[in-house]
Amino acid sequence: MSANSTDDRPTDQLDRLHNRLAEDFLGTIDVLASMVGAFERYHEGSHSHFVGYKSAETARQLGLSPTEVFAVQTAGRLHDIGKIGLPERILTRFPADLSEADFAEYARHAELGAVMLRHHNSLTTVADIVHAHHERLDGSGFPQHLKDRAIPPGAMIIAVADTFHNMMYRKGIARNEASGVPNAIRSAGSFLEASSKRYTQVMNYLEKKAGVLFHRKVVDAFTLIMETERRQLGDKLVKRVAPNYLRPGMSLAEDYYTSFGLLVAARGEALTERSIRALLRFAEDGELPAKVLVVD
Ligand SMILES: [Fe+2]
Ligand SMILES: [Fe+2]
Repeated sequence: MSANSTDDRPTDQLDRLHNRLAEDFLGTIDVLASMVGAFERYHEGSHSHFVGYKSAETARQLGLSPTEVFAVQTAGRLHDIGKIGLPERILTRFPADLSEADFAEYARHAELGAVMLRHHNSLTTVADIVHAHHERLDGSGFPQHLKDRAIPPGAMIIAVADTFHNMMYRKGIARNEASGVPNAIRSAGSFLEASSKRYTQVMNYLEKKAGVLFHRKVVDAFTLIMETERRQLGDKLVKRVAPNYLRPGMSLAEDYYTSFGLLVAARGEALTERSIRALLRFAEDGELPAKVLVVD
C-alpha cells in the first residue's frame, strides 16, 4: 500500500486497522455470547445477559477502571461458555437436582470455559475470571476451592449476580416438566406474588452470606443497584403478559434478545401499535418468551 494521500498516512492506516481490530474483537465476543445464550435452557437466553450487564454495573459502582469493567462484563456474558457440549440431562436441571456423577460433570464447566477462552490472547483475564466464577470466599466453592484474595475480584462480582439470577429462577419460575411452561407465571398475579416474595428471600440470602460466601462490598453494591432499579419502577404494576395482550402505552420492564443476541425490544420502551406488531412477529418466530414483563 502506498501513502499517496493525506488520508493514507501510516498513522491513519494504523488507526483504521486498530478500530477494525477492536470492532472484530467486540463482534467475536457478541458471537460467543449468543452461542452461550442459545445453550441456556431455563433462562430463555436472559441469564448471561443479566449476569454480564449487572456485573458490569456492580464493577462500576465499586470504582473499577473501564478496562476492568469491560473484562467483568465480558466474563459475565461468557461465564457459562463451558456448558456448551454438556449433555441435555445436565443442562435442563438445576445443579442442586443433579446426581453426584452429573454434578461432577457440571462442575467442570468453569474450567472448560477458561480453557476455551485462553485460546484468545486478549481473553486471558476474562478466562481467569470465568475459571473462578463458582469459587466462594470461605473456600467452599469449586473447582479449585480458592479462598479470599486468591479469587479474582471480577469473579466475586459475577458470583453475586449469577447466584441472584439463578435463585430467582430456581423457585419462582420452576418449569412444569411435562409442558415446559413456567409454573409460577400461569397468571400475572401469581408471578407478581412469587417474584416479589422471592426477591426478598434472595436478597436476604445474599445479605446473610455476605462476608461468608460473597464479598461484603460486592453484595452491598449489587443491593444498591437492584434497590435503585426497583424504586425507579415505583409503584407501577409490573406484570407478565402474553405478547397478544400487549397494548400501546405499556412499556417493557426487560430487554428482549433473539436467540442470536439481537435486541428485539429494549427495557423502558413505550409500546406503540407498530412496535407491538413487530413484537408479535418475533413471538411467532419463537424469538420471545411465552410471556413478557411489562410495566402498565
Ligand atoms: Fe456457572
Ligand atoms: Fe451462570
